[in-house]
Amino acid sequence: MGKVNVVYATKTKHSQKLAQAIAKELNVEAVQIIEESNPEKTDLLFIIGGIYGGVCNPVLISYANKLDKNLVDKVVLVTSSASDSGRCQKEIRNILQEKEIQLLDEITCPGGILFVRLGHPNKKEIQQVVDRAKQIIQ
Ligand SMILES: Cc1cc2nc3c(=O)[nH]c(=O)nc-3n(C[C@H](O)[C@H](O)[C@H](O)COP(=O)(O)O)c2cc1C
Repeated sequence: MGKVNVVYATKTKHSQKLAQAIAKELNVEAVQIIEESNPEKTDLLFIIGGIYGGVCNPVLISYANKLDKNLVDKVVLVTSSASDSGRCQKEIRNILQEKEIQLLDEITCPGGILFVRLGHPNKKEIQQVVDRAKQIIQ
């Protein structure tokens, strides 16, 4: 699979948990993205984030805007959100499509907010995401 990078942005640490679990399994480091972050050359990039008011994390949108198909070959999105229907990082999908960067899959995971889905993601859900990530890179 070549070089694999794992990046995330988070507001309530769910994406961080998922990113760290995936990164550990793949023997790489989970890197937290900030507005100033610049993408590295990589073969497969995991981008992990939540949904807020129906929209992806703006920090990840800025990061996706800096991607280039000569820099990043393939992407897997990992999306944590409270609602089943909202589980899609639309804005990032659109950016990847415009840039002709291949999206291999979008792995979704429940993530609680206040009393909605409190306690999620749980251990089992995190493991399911890790297992799916492993399957994808095999
Ligand atoms: C301010 C706020 C707004 C949210 N809006 C939505 C939403 O519109 N749809 C949804 O499915 N989940 C929503 N959620 C739930 C988050 O997507 C979910 O908790 C996710 O796991 C957060 O990831 P993070 O902890 O990495 O920031 C919202 C959470 C917060 C804190």
